[in-house]
Amino acid sequence: MKIGVFCSGGDAPGMNACIRAVVRRAISEGHEVVGINRGYQGLLDEDFYTTDAGSPLMTLRSVSGWSRFGGSLLRSSRSSEFRTDAGQQKAVKVLVKHGIDALVPIGGDGTFHGAVALAKHWDGPIVGCPGTIDNDLMGTDFTIGFSTAVQTAVEAVDKIRDTAESHERMFLVEVMGRHSGFIAVHTALAASAECVCIPETKTDIPAIVRDLQELKTRGKTSVMMIVAEGDEEGDAVKLNEELRAAGNPFSTRCVILGHLQRGGSPSPEDRILASSVGDFAVQAILEGQSGVMAGVIGGQTTLTRFEDTYAVHKPIPPELSSLIERLAN
Ligand code: F6P
Repeated sequence: MKIGVFCSGGDAPGMNACIRAVVRRAISEGHEVVGINRGYQGLLDEDFYTTDAGSPLMTLRSVSGWSRFGGSLLRSSRSSEFRTDAGQQKAVKVLVKHGIDALVPIGGDGTFHGAVALAKHWDGPIVGCPGTIDNDLMGTDFTIGFSTAVQTAVEAVDKIRDTAESHERMFLVEVMGRHSGFIAVHTALAASAECVCIPETKTDIPAIVRDLQELKTRGKTSVMMIVAEGDEEGDAVKLNEELRAAGNPFSTRCVILGHLQRGGSPSPEDRILASSVGDFAVQAILEGQSGVMAGVIGGQTTLTRFEDTYAVHKPIPPELSSLIERLAN
């Protein structure tokens, strides 16, 4: 069997460890692996990874040392052409032309929407791996890249706290998460932030200002507020303006961490998760599975239909939000 592997959507630390696992497991079982560069767009463009010797097939050595590298060594993209019916049919022609029998897409909900669309035109097995820093997929406790992104954000917030304390300021630190507050909540808890604003819960400006006034009265000199970029009240800059207008007693600054959170060498947790699901995805293909994502729930590898990974908004454990509030008071 010839298995195609690719990364799609926002890159996430650990994707390379996942590719390595796919390549190593597939080759050790006697199969071939084609690395598809630049996600679905690379598939349409017939842009394949070639070894130094010019072979289009990846080898055991192709992925030596890949686990420690951030980003995606097969690169990644968001393809508007592939979203069209014509694009999907063109992709099938490319798969047939190159004799690719099965696919392992590594990415988030957009990637899996793409896999479902492709499966309407192609009957080869597709088993995905959850690669996104957002941790917003059902069917796995954590997604590849989330742990590293939180670690990066916490390191940044710790540094910002130093200057916040020196100048007796409040900082609004914006973290990624277009539709999800997972990075924000985990960062807030780990970095002892006083407040967190996420799309899943109502951001009540007057109530936050009352809390800030209370903190000021009690002699608090620095405040950290972590804001998920997708908060329903707006981003960190907008929230800052609203808080000021409502009587925030603290002098403030905003920091947007942005794509810093997507880079860097993956944490051990991300490398382990990526290796487990990459290996398991190949096993699932060889066992005849298709249309599913390989994940890890409670330490057990598991398969979830692509549609079920994104049908429901993955809930933030409410006890985490209440813990942040309790400990900040
Ligand atoms: O989906 C992952 C993610 O990092 C989101 O948290 C963020 O909103 C988005 O990607 C940014 O995408 P881009 O790199 O295209 O700006």
